[in-house]
Amino acid sequence: MKNGGKNILITGGAGFIGSHVVRLFVNKYPEYHIYNLDKLTYAGNLANLKDIENSPNYTFLKGDICDYEAVKEIFRKYDIGYVIHLAAESHVDRSIKDPFIFARTNVIGTLTLLQAAREWWNCSLALRKKSQEENDGCFSRDENGNIGHLFYHISTDEVYGALKPGDGYFTEDTKYDPHSPYSASKASSDHFVRAFGDTYGMPVIVTNCSNNYGPYQFPEKLIPLFINNIRYNKPLPVYGKGENIRDWLYVVDHARAIDVIFHKGEPGDTYNIGGFNEWKNIDLVRLLIKVTDKALGRPEGASAGLITYVTDRAGHDLRYAIDSSKLKRSLGWEPSLQFEEGLEKTVRWYLEHQEWMDHVTSGAYLSYYKEMYGGE
Ligand code: NAD
Ligand code: DAU
Repeated sequence: MKNGGKNILITGGAGFIGSHVVRLFVNKYPEYHIYNLDKLTYAGNLANLKDIENSPNYTFLKGDICDYEAVKEIFRKYDIGYVIHLAAESHVDRSIKDPFIFARTNVIGTLTLLQAAREWWNCSLALRKKSQEENDGCFSRDENGNIGHLFYHISTDEVYGALKPGDGYFTEDTKYDPHSPYSASKASSDHFVRAFGDTYGMPVIVTNCSNNYGPYQFPEKLIPLFINNIRYNKPLPVYGKGENIRDWLYVVDHARAIDVIFHKGEPGDTYNIGGFNEWKNIDLVRLLIKVTDKALGRPEGASAGLITYVTDRAGHDLRYAIDSSKLKRSLGWEPSLQFEEGLEKTVRWYLEHQEWMDHVTSGAYLSYYKEMYGGE
């Protein structure tokens, strides 16, 4: 299917952040066709996209980013011009238990997509040199100066390692120092993406974002897990002393940043995305209890007794803090929501979508997909 090159492959679109990116692009850009390639692992859930699943500019493709032949065929059949790559194994605790799948999906999967894109877009060192002279090859631009191809890789602030309180922020120049198998696999995939830019002249962008929160997040992650546990009066397992610090960003603001960077970012560049919104875990948990108790009509602090300190995560990074001033300065993006507002919205969403939560926690959606699409 030809669409003037505006066929975008979004990988991992059935996951948490991917579903917000797919929704934004499908609704905002009817002139683009969005192909959502997702394997539907435990973290992929098509219920996240119910509202746009019948849109004429949207197609879901069930598949594995590690399957080179299948990925090549997708580029050919749908004439993919752009990639926004989010598919990944994303949970640090799982990477500690089973690092292999993280290397497979995050490293080999990214490399597979890069190779398929390189082949379809005709990127080569020779073409790169030619393109600089003749505006040809994978660096071609249209009459409005828009780049003809882009491989946009969505990455994480965890690749930069850990800061101490008072250490300042991660900038785009901070040296990589990943500690968990998850962050090591993401760092490796970032390096492959940049290597394809340097070696084959592929137009690539990498962005490194802080912790996201909001609707449709799988309830293994801190915020949705704790909202659900508060609701059912279950323990809230705080790792270690709850002293670790994370920088939180509302997921729709991340999707807005991806939109701006996709359209206006400089190929070859890196952008940090974050909310300048650092919270010590224990303070965040206390705020979450306050907001959730209020939404449930319970007296303030009624659920505070659910806090349970448990064994710390192995290699638990103390602090992440992202400096996203380059993105604000160069492309004008900044978060639209204050944290308390975003958290209240998020708590309300989970409490009003208990059916979604029950479906996910029971695993019912997995057997439903197996019936519909086959596979594991
Ligand atoms: P998620 O776990 O919610 O979703 C991942 C999606 O990828 C799922 O739909 C899953 O089915 C799909 N997937 C996994 N393996 C696949 C494969 N082999 N082939 C095709 N699809 C596959 O993840 P998320 O939290 O939405 O994160 C999305 C991306 O953003 C990841 O690359 C992650 O590293 C990055 N990121 C996440 C955060 C965060 O706070 N969640 C912050 C910064 C960056
Ligand atoms: O920083 C960006 C990263 O944020 C993303 O790259 C990852 O994909 C995403 O999962 C997230 O990683 P974290 O490990 O920071 O998120 P998580 O929600 O698992 O944990 C947040 C903090 O809360 C972390 O310090 C560990 C702690 N925690 C987490 C859980 C699940 C607890 O204390 N108890 C818990 O039960």
